[in-house]
This record gives sequence, structure tokens and C-alpha cells, in this order.
Amino acid sequence: MAKKKMTVADFKNWKKEGKKFTFVTAYDYTTATIVDESDCNIILVGDSLGMIMLGYKGTESVTMEDMIHHIRPVVKGAPNTWIIGDMPFGSYQESDEQAVHNAVRLIKETNCDCVKLEGGVEMLSRIKAIAGAGINTMGHIGLTPQTASSLGGFKVQGGTPETAAKVIKDAIELEKAGCFSLVLECVPVSVGKAVAEAVSIPVLGIGAGPHVDCQVLVTQDLLGMYGDFKPKFVKHFAQVRKVMVDGLNAFHKESIEGTFPSEEYCFNKAVDIPKLY
Ligand code: KIV
Repeated sequence: MAKKKMTVADFKNWKKEGKKFTFVTAYDYTTATIVDESDCNIILVGDSLGMIMLGYKGTESVTMEDMIHHIRPVVKGAPNTWIIGDMPFGSYQESDEQAVHNAVRLIKETNCDCVKLEGGVEMLSRIKAIAGAGINTMGHIGLTPQTASSLGGFKVQGGTPETAAKVIKDAIELEKAGCFSLVLECVPVSVGKAVAEAVSIPVLGIGAGPHVDCQVLVTQDLLGMYGDFKPKFVKHFAQVRKVMVDGLNAFHKESIEGTFPSEEYCFNKAVDIPKLY
């Protein structure tokens, strides 16, 4: 039976009921169809596409055009899955007006279900403006990759009582500002638990321990597709890179040996070939 797409009400209700759920990434049509066929509930078309699909060093160079280009095929491929469109760096930092303009563009030009933007209390006015425009708005706190260098790099956040208090306060204020859910990235387990207890919206954790409402991983990471780099919080649930390399090598070997294509893969109609050479 095809799974049913989540609604915005489900986010709140599932949190209240203690029902756990999952979210993964996709950046293209084929992967979207695969996630749609799986039991995973949510797809993020994340700006991590900068590294994973476009080969950039970080997420900072990703543009609105990149995001729109990748969100559209994912929306087409996953009609039964809630889809988040990530707001790229530079698309909401300037002003509330810029933030609303670009959030409206993402929704209008791609038909995704919500937008996500990074930042804590310093982004409250942007979040109020986007949510106030009637757009489902997801926050992203803890480690925020777009501004990781200002946080001292890709490091665990909230590791002292003071910084933990900042993360918890960010979550509380984001809920008050109108976020219907929030991503919490790279914090100690105790901070993940505290944030999940502090708010009534679901906390979607990546590297935030087991007490959050929803576990998040990048699809290419969890399937073991993305080479050697593996953050501590990533578990490889499959070895898809190896399966793909093995498949490519089998094709190469059989092709150069001449065992592919065998009869079953050929159009075997006999044709009288005119003598032209
Ligand atoms: O872009 C992304 O993949 C993300 C996840 C880390 C949540 O924002």
C-alpha cells in the first residue's frame, strides 16, 4: 500500500503521541522515487547538494536557481512524501523582504511543502516574516553548516552549560516565532533530549542522539554512497557505492570479453543487408 503523505497537523500530533518518524535527503527524480517507495516520511532537498551533487567544498555557493532546479524533480518523483526545500545561503540573510520573496519563490516554483532556514534567535524576524506569509517554516539550529566557520567549524554545538542554554533558547524562540518543526544538528545527547522536551513542535535530529522526535540522515551517507568521509553520527545501513562499482565493473568486464550483449539482450530479426561497402 502506498504510504500517505504527512500533513502539517501530523507533525504536531505525532510529537504529542510520541510517534517517531524519519527524514532523508534527495536531490533528483530517481532517488525521490526510491525514497517515496520506502517507509521514510520526509525528504529534504538540502543545500548539501552543493557537496553531494555539485562537488563544491561547502554549501555557501549554492544558489536559489540550484535549489529550484533540484527541488522540482524531487517533488515530481515523491508525491507521497513531505518535501522540504532548503533556503540557500544569501537567500534570506539580507532582509525580511528578501526572505519572504525567496521563500515564496521556492514554494511557488517547485510546489515543495515547506521551507527550511538556518539560525537561532538572530533569525527570529525572518522566521516570523516567512511564517507570517503563510508558509510552513522549519528552523535549523545547533550546527548550522552555512555559517559553520563562524561556529569554529563543523563541530558539536552546545557542549557547555552556556552554549547548551543558547541552543535550548533558540528552539523555544523558534517555536514562538512560528516554526512548525526544527532540525537540530550535532549536539550532545543530553542537549538533544532537553530541546525535545522544551518545545511542543517536533525536533528532527541529525547527530542529536536518540531522544529527538525524528532521525535525519543524508541518503548518500546512510546508503554508503559518498566515498570515505563519514561523520561520527552517520551509520552506513548499506554499501551502495560498492554495489554500484561492482555492477559497473561487471558491465565493463563482460563488454570487453564479448559476453555482453548475449542473445537475450539483442534484436535478433534477420535483415538482408544491402551491399554498400
Ligand atoms: O542540507 C542538508 O542536508 C541539511 C541536513 C544536514 C539537515 O540541512
